[in-house]
Amino acid sequence: MEKFIIEGGKKLSGRVKISGAKNAALPVMSASLICGGKTVLHNIPDVRDIRTLIKILEYLGASVKFEKNTVEIDPSGVCKYTAPYEFVSTMRGSVCLLGPLLAKYGKARISMPGGCVIGSRPIDLHIKGLKKLGVNIINEEGYIVGRAKKLKGNTIFLGGNFGSSVLATANIMTAAALAEGETIIEFASCEPEIVDLAMMLKKTGAKIYGEGSHRIRIEGVKRLKGVEYSIIPDRIEAGTYMLAGYATGSSITVENVVPSHLFSFLDKMEEAGVSFKTGKDALTTRKLKKWKSVDVITLPYPGFPTDLQAQMMAFLTLSDGISTITEKVFPERFIHVGELNRLGANITLDGAKAIIRGVDKLKGAKTMASDLRASAAIVLAGLAAEGETEVSRIYHLDRGYEKFEEKLTSLGARIRREKE
Ligand code: EPZ
Repeated sequence: MEKFIIEGGKKLSGRVKISGAKNAALPVMSASLICGGKTVLHNIPDVRDIRTLIKILEYLGASVKFEKNTVEIDPSGVCKYTAPYEFVSTMRGSVCLLGPLLAKYGKARISMPGGCVIGSRPIDLHIKGLKKLGVNIINEEGYIVGRAKKLKGNTIFLGGNFGSSVLATANIMTAAALAEGETIIEFASCEPEIVDLAMMLKKTGAKIYGEGSHRIRIEGVKRLKGVEYSIIPDRIEAGTYMLAGYATGSSITVENVVPSHLFSFLDKMEEAGVSFKTGKDALTTRKLKKWKSVDVITLPYPGFPTDLQAQMMAFLTLSDGISTITEKVFPERFIHVGELNRLGANITLDGAKAIIRGVDKLKGAKTMASDLRASAAIVLAGLAAEGETEVSRIYHLDRGYEKFEEKLTSLGARIRREKE
């Protein structure tokens, strides 16, 4: 296994290009299975989760070529319909194969994703939606097994106790594209990644309306064609680098971003007293010595993204006063608190609420990564801390951040990867 060694306290400067959004790429690549021909997708980040999905697609029989951030997928050779546990257990996002496999082939056998450090990760909403489309679903030895002669459109309420579900919306929207008749998804996710998936599907000939709102209407068609499509930039990666800038009191620019995808984050940063310059597809942080404490509540889009919660917490450890972060999406998503406290932060938990008492400085320490976004938070804290921070098990970071240490080094950070 590998670790990062970070020498903290360095100011950052310069520009960093944001990669394509992993959480758009996964459902878009999965949806390529329902296209009648080859699909070419650009701006695909070269990260572990993408490599894992490619392995699954090839296991199913598709032929996949991936180079220089472009992936070509030809599903004509698909002859298997099972996503095995050894793949799914490393990447929960593979659940978004359910919809495409059932829509195109009428069968799917996907390992139950199981829990992960951010929460139990149920898939009841996926199952509810697919059953409404006429899929017969059973749970067999830890696998979800689905069978459907023909998918039939239906009206489906897809909201759960924590609001909408991103990948359940992706699964149902993709499956409904080839179902007979009309499907209405009520309480659909509004995430930009869902809009991106809808835009790709519409290019293949799908009839989808209302994407980006809580009500998506899909008129099923008989077939879809292969397309060429470029996915959106990663708003979470962009927010992560901006917080690296703010936490080290630096001015840096993130390029190839869609500022409107970050409105809730930017609004909260303004409330913390920091400022930024907005370009057409770039955002520049302004250097600041101190920032105010704020109260953050994570919500489905367009609310404050849960995927920026840990990184925001790292930033708030150095604010004036007492901040709180309440997790409304994944109430247990606080694995990073212990590691941040090892670096000298002063954070306590009260159920799904973290109370962050600002400290004057953080001090480097040995830490361990445990989840994609929690690991990013530890790196940010390490960059801001005095002295050396070691972050072990960084394979968690490699799942979702392309060239992470190269990009940080290009901004002037002292960070290197070593064998553990
Ligand atoms: C997607 O996961 C993202 N992953 C997550 O990003 C992100 O945190 C999450 O959306 C929320 O924005 C990908 O897109 C690959 P949900 P998803 O279904 O779709 C509950 C990252 O770090 N729920 O929107 O699996 C669920 O427990 C990852 O990049 C049910 O109750 O999340 C949670 O509380 C982490 N039943 C809430 O809904 C279900 O059937 C939102 O989950 C499904 C979800």
